[in-house]
Amino acid sequence: MEILLLNGPNLNMLGKREPETYGHQTLQHIVDDLHSRADKQDIVLHHFQSNAEHELIDRIHDAMGNVDAIIINPGALTHTSIALRDALLSVSIPFIEVHLSNVHAREPFRHHSYLSDVAAGVIVGLGAIGYQLALTAAINLLTPNK
Ligand code: DQA
Repeated sequence: MEILLLNGPNLNMLGKREPETYGHQTLQHIVDDLHSRADKQDIVLHHFQSNAEHELIDRIHDAMGNVDAIIINPGALTHTSIALRDALLSVSIPFIEVHLSNVHAREPFRHHSYLSDVAAGVIVGLGAIGYQLALTAAINLLTPNK
């Protein structure tokens, strides 16, 4: 089973970036932790972070036929990108949307997501643990009888 973890713009700044909102863990720490959890369950986890919308879209296209599920924190592209939504729909890979912060408790422009209604599920506001929950949920989605 192969799972692709995608992180969008500014998530490379985790740890330094508004820690009161996004926590103190770096992206490297979060990804390393997820890799070790995936390894233990014989899951191949791929990770890609980019600040460029087109790079995320290209990575999603490349996943078609190669990846069973996607976990994505699209960063601010959540609230702006129809192109990212279309890319995810174009590959027909189930995906889970993750946000570290509770976007619904923040500025109104963060309340709408272009992805949520086509996501398998959404995990919001639980910090870095949200990625672990998403991994568990993705595995469960792919092996419902386990
Ligand atoms: C975020 C929430 C977005 O609104 C914001 O633009 C981010 C991070 C989160 O993880 O809480 O970059 O996706």
